[in-house]
Amino acid sequence: MIVDERITAYINTLEKELPFHLKELEKSALLEGVPIIRKETQTFLRFLLAVKKPRRILEVGAAVGFSAIFMSEYMPEDCTIVTIEKVEMRLVKARKHISFAPRRNKITLLEGEALVLLKKLALDGPNSLDFIFLDAAKAQYLNYLPEIMRLLSKGGILVTDNVLQDGTVAESRYGITRRDRTIHTRMREYLYTLTHMDELETAVIPVGDGITVSTKVK
Ligand SMILES: C[S@@+](CC[C@H](N)C(=O)[O-])C[C@H]1O[C@@H](n2cnc3c(N)ncnc32)[C@H](O)[C@@H]1O
Repeated sequence: MIVDERITAYINTLEKELPFHLKELEKSALLEGVPIIRKETQTFLRFLLAVKKPRRILEVGAAVGFSAIFMSEYMPEDCTIVTIEKVEMRLVKARKHISFAPRRNKITLLEGEALVLLKKLALDGPNSLDFIFLDAAKAQYLNYLPEIMRLLSKGGILVTDNVLQDGTVAESRYGITRRDRTIHTRMREYLYTLTHMDELETAVIPVGDGITVSTKVK
């Protein structure tokens, strides 16, 4: 937890209630230990969707479909979502949950390795996505970035989740267990790159497990 637990608990009491189907899906995902977006992250995404009013969303990391279905509830009527997942056990559940979602016709689930699919993704050509939510293999984020930049439109929003890794990203490399050093290094490289790219304006925000919000300015 990167924000004081008491403060997070208080903020959570202010969050709007989820629609019944999302509440049930959230409950079952948490029971099964699926790492879905936290309450604070949900609110933040809902706010961004209300401000940006995107037309085309890409999500990398569908898990069991919670965040894709969540975003579909709060996106504009004419918006569509493409979401990517590679783990069969998760895909089985994501297919089922999406098939019951009220706006299922707006969600496309792509099955396979994210980097391979991102490279193939053409949609309406480059710059065709105005909202991208990155929530998959954390150590791969930097590898996804060239494709993300190709697909993101000018003025488009890129949101990346779990960038502060429960606060460990702020620790010195020597304070990190050997097991976590690779992700620590990769996440720091990703954050440095995002915050220093001329094409992006990025804010690192200590919400949930840490989020970056970037907009393509060039
Ligand atoms: C944190 S979970 C996503 C949670 C989901 N966004 C939500 O909040 O409901 C990350 C997901 O990314 C998937 N994933 C990780 N690496 C991937 C890759 N290289 N290609 C496709 N999916 C990947 C994992 O299988 C996992 O289900």
